[in-house]
Amino acid sequence: MVPQGTIRTSAPKKEAPRSVALGVTYEGRDPALLERMLPHVDYIEVTPETIAEVKGDQIVLSAEVMSELKNIGKAVKIIVHGVTLSIGSHEGWSPNYFYLLDELLQQIDVAWHSEHLGYTKVDGEHLGIMLAMPKTEQALDLVCERVCAIQERYGLSFLLENIVHVIPDFPGDYSDAAFLNALTQRTGCGLILDIYNLECDAHNHGLNISEFLDELNPTNVRELHVACGVEHNGFLLDVHSQLTRESTVDLAQYAIKELTTNAEVVVYEFMPEAVAGLGHAAIAEELRHLRARFQS
Ligand SMILES: [Fe+2]
Repeated sequence: MVPQGTIRTSAPKKEAPRSVALGVTYEGRDPALLERMLPHVDYIEVTPETIAEVKGDQIVLSAEVMSELKNIGKAVKIIVHGVTLSIGSHEGWSPNYFYLLDELLQQIDVAWHSEHLGYTKVDGEHLGIMLAMPKTEQALDLVCERVCAIQERYGLSFLLENIVHVIPDFPGDYSDAAFLNALTQRTGCGLILDIYNLECDAHNHGLNISEFLDELNPTNVRELHVACGVEHNGFLLDVHSQLTRESTVDLAQYAIKELTTNAEVVVYEFMPEAVAGLGHAAIAEELRHLRARFQS
């Protein structure tokens, strides 16, 4: 049953319910946490920028964290999730991201890599936040060209994630779902469907999640994200500081069981800064709970 009970049923249904694997974000340098998480997950999602460090006048991947990843790569699959590519900046993406990605891919095998459908800089100035793309034909052309270039460069599956809308959308040519449909149809790239981001958009801007999912072509969805933040001045923030809410897990479970996605994994995301507040035991229990929900 769909949360809020409002979804239409025209989206194609699966022939039989299926389960998916569980993944979790890990940014290295916390072997005690890693040890608590590994029994519950099949995938570890790593962000190159957060495992990077300054060496001389260069930014390089931490040798210590890369060693950790090489070790756990025998037990779980590694997936890469960047945050600073800024694929939607009109003046060009961030070349520095590729230096880190190149270095990482040379050292470990990954199942696929991904980024966010948005931009973090304008005219070379960093915004300090990630903003969603305008859903225009011009923006679609720009992103599609760059997605194709990335796919050609790495020969590896590449996914883009729906991000939260921090500010109201620029009037565009496409709905949110139609933009994603056109993007995947033109490029063949995959999608990460971030369930909590949909909930933030619904809370903050009135996104109708039912209509969104009904319109979305789900076949290119390879990965789902669940997370939870906090509400501040009535605005639901995408800060990944909490354990998941039941509404988020229910909606993710709906997507897995009722839509024809090709999702292989649900990733629980939390920031390294949240670990002290949440505690290792609570994170491990959250993973146990999520695995039971998504593999039932
Ligand atoms: Fe996400």
